[in-house]
Amino acid sequence: MSLFAKKSIESLIKESSVEDKHSLKRSLSAANLVALGIGAIIGAGLFVRTASAAANYAGPSVTLGFIVAAIGCAFAGLCYAEFASMIPIAGSAYTYSYATMGELIAWIIGWDLVLEYALGAATVGIAWSEYLNKLLGNSIPYEWCHSPFEKLTDASGVVTAHGIINIPALFIIFLLTILLIRGTQESAFVNGLIVITKVTIVLLFIILGWQYMNPLNHTPYIPESLPGGYTDIQGVNHSYGGIMGILGAAGVVFFAFIGFDAVSTAAQEAKNPKRDMPIGILGSLAICTVLYILFAHVLTGVASVDDFRGPGKEASVAYAITTYMTNYSWLATLVTVAILAGFSSVILVMLMGQSRVFYSMSKDGLVPAVFSDLHTKYRTPHKSNWLFFIFVGLFAAFIPGDIVGDMTSIGTLFAFILVCAGVWILRVKNPDIQRQFKTPLVPLVPILGIVVCGAMIFGLGWPNWLRLGIWMVIGMVFYFAYGKQHSKINNPS
Ligand code: ALA
Repeated sequence: MSLFAKKSIESLIKESSVEDKHSLKRSLSAANLVALGIGAIIGAGLFVRTASAAANYAGPSVTLGFIVAAIGCAFAGLCYAEFASMIPIAGSAYTYSYATMGELIAWIIGWDLVLEYALGAATVGIAWSEYLNKLLGNSIPYEWCHSPFEKLTDASGVVTAHGIINIPALFIIFLLTILLIRGTQESAFVNGLIVITKVTIVLLFIILGWQYMNPLNHTPYIPESLPGGYTDIQGVNHSYGGIMGILGAAGVVFFAFIGFDAVSTAAQEAKNPKRDMPIGILGSLAICTVLYILFAHVLTGVASVDDFRGPGKEASVAYAITTYMTNYSWLATLVTVAILAGFSSVILVMLMGQSRVFYSMSKDGLVPAVFSDLHTKYRTPHKSNWLFFIFVGLFAAFIPGDIVGDMTSIGTLFAFILVCAGVWILRVKNPDIQRQFKTPLVPLVPILGIVVCGAMIFGLGWPNWLRLGIWMVIGMVFYFAYGKQHSKINNPS
């Protein structure tokens, strides 16, 4: 038995080309993949985490945080694209690392991806709940749309309410689990419509909001580093201002880019994966980067950091429009509805990515067979979808969005680092494999990917390092107690 047993790339490719009644349908084109990418990308990261990063870490210089995050993603994205064009099968970074770095590292990545996809879905579910409440005129009682770890205070700091459970977040996860089980083809169509709406809303806000920017809100653009940091209303301390503030903000808004790699999990459903995967991954990343920087610049110009720490903390975009862009109150409603739809498409892709990763892990024997049981009619891993509904639902219902969001960011950053290392290792160890897309300047690009993603992990601070560490320890226990004994590669029948 070896911890470093590898799947051969040839066998992976063979697996992907065998179409039988147990395999997923190949129905997605390059355009579908870019749409899938944008569908996964634009979401809570932009509409919720931008304001939170400005409030807690960087003020207006959150835009620089977006640039740092985009640079890290571009490097990692180039590495992802090489992998995806070389190993065109479902499973994302997990599958790639099984072929390059062996079973233990593959397990670590697969386990880590639960943070990205499952907790990512929970974070966006929580953000969905914020905007729904805003749409309903804050009529959902605080207790029923917040986690037990959150509290509401009045202007003088007196606690007026405590959260109990986030019911709307739980509800949307439930609804989308059902949609997902019906199949990705229908989901991809709905997704296409939502992507168009989302991009339109972002553009509208940038164009209409531009004239409402108050230069005072942008002064100073990079706030001075605050000695002792800034402690938010829940009592959590953050390093505010200066370089550390920008790195912290980058780690937070990095969430907004998560998802372009989810495209790679759909490789088994792509019509022409070798050509379309790099287009899907890098195309969606490029479009979103430009939109994000402009959007964050306008948002932090229209409303102030104090707004984002106080009344504009939740549903910040709708708040900024109703409070400052007074001629455009119709836009606030439109934006909120579009955001609700947009968040749904993000959750859908995240849940889909999650079930696909566990589908591959289950086929490999690392997690129980229940995760790869396909529905007889829809050919989707329905039991897996239900199990993840419970897992994601628990986080969405009971943990604050900021915490789940940061865990998603740090987990994904860690996976990106391993992917960058993987591309580099494979170039050295297996230079002759055919690569339809080659990452330029190896090893420089992977090294830069590792450095920039590492800097963002650093910026996220020790509570998040600890959470990542605990999650990984739990994963190790699972691997040695189950995965290692059942792995098909280590236990050929
Ligand atoms: N990038 C996705 C979002 O921002 C996860 O919601």
